[in-house]
Amino acid sequence: MSEAVSFEPPRGMRDFYPADMVWRNRVFDAMRTSAAKFGFEPYDACVVESYELLARKAGEEVGEQIYHFQDKSERHLALRAEMTPTLARMVAQRQKELAFPLKWTTIAQCFRYERMTKGRKREHYQWNCDIIGEDSILAEVEVLGCAVDALKRMGLTTGDFKVHVSSRKFLGELLEKSGIGTEKHAQVFLALDKRGKMPDTEIAAMLKDGGLDDDEVAATFAIMDTKDYSASAELSALFKMAEAAGFADALVFDIGVIRGLSYYTGIVFECFDTKGEFRAIFGGGRYDNLLTTIGGEPTSAVGLGFGDVVVTELLKARLGDAAAQAPEGVAVGFMFPEQAAAAVKLAAKLRERGEKVNLALHPVKPKRFFSRADAARAAKAVFLGPDDVERGVARMKDLATRTESEIEL
Ligand code: HAM
Repeated sequence: MSEAVSFEPPRGMRDFYPADMVWRNRVFDAMRTSAAKFGFEPYDACVVESYELLARKAGEEVGEQIYHFQDKSERHLALRAEMTPTLARMVAQRQKELAFPLKWTTIAQCFRYERMTKGRKREHYQWNCDIIGEDSILAEVEVLGCAVDALKRMGLTTGDFKVHVSSRKFLGELLEKSGIGTEKHAQVFLALDKRGKMPDTEIAAMLKDGGLDDDEVAATFAIMDTKDYSASAELSALFKMAEAAGFADALVFDIGVIRGLSYYTGIVFECFDTKGEFRAIFGGGRYDNLLTTIGGEPTSAVGLGFGDVVVTELLKARLGDAAAQAPEGVAVGFMFPEQAAAAVKLAAKLRERGEKVNLALHPVKPKRFFSRADAARAAKAVFLGPDDVERGVARMKDLATRTESEIEL
């Protein structure tokens, strides 16, 4: 029984030390602020769902990656791999009472038994913004505008990232024009989603498995070179409205964006860093049939999932570690035990004024005090020595400019 336990978390799971929380908070704060600015209402649900709700069609990666188990009453349960089925369930449950369109947001921890690569863990937090019950392209515009707003709020520019946009409907029309019937489209989408992740010869084999002949496979690859979206009314409208909203520079048309999940029916999008170093930053699109597949009334929906892993890697790479948190608050320290009461009193007074105060818990030498205050990224510091307490006045040092101002004790 006394065998040593590993200090590592289970493979693919993360610990968040305070230094990691600084990044996580920066990312979450931007997500929450942008969602609120765009009028999304927060919601939440438990991470455990019924396996049945989450289980998926064969061939879909997410379905194969679900962590699932039986509880003591032999219920088949699972940890959610994404929030969308839960959202659909919650909306279907109250479909008669809710006032549509809904604009809902959450940051949900999700679990997927993935092959571990850069940017992919077995647990991640995923920010979701969904608009339910709205056919207008403005739903796509608001969801995308909100995600772009959050990326900028985090400190990135449209030089750092681009949202690649396409439409499954448009791609379906192009396939149909080549004689590939709609009954084959689901298979074609699944195969095309693997492009870039496996050689085209294997994609071709997948397409043939899906019932395409050689000419149709060739036609499908030719379609993937499409650069002009003007034949698609919805893509044209999306780009036009993004222009009006002021974020068209963040979008590019890319017929190669398919999405791995089979529930998408219209516009689909995926955001990547412009240098192509990282996995997708976020992804989403329109999914008009999900509620009906779980038994609800037909309802149109658009949404996105935006993970915390890739964006944090990207922020660290582009902004550097120091950018995680701007200096803030006041460090208060004292030289000898005799100044402890004055330091405690000063800390209380500053906190009452709304300052964040980090009070030293024991006497310390000035040099050590100031170097710790710098390391803790305090904005200001007050150090009390015997003379200060006697005079009733201390000096508050601005740690960035190294200028001092007097403060009454
Ligand atoms: P998804 O593309 O599977 O879509 O995931 C969305 C985002 O979650 C990804 O772009 C990535 O940022 C993050 N993500 C996914 N898996 C992992 C992982 N193993 N490790 C780290 N990050 C990950 C969905 O989940 C859809 N339900 C999104 C959606 C919402 N569509 C409509 N509404």
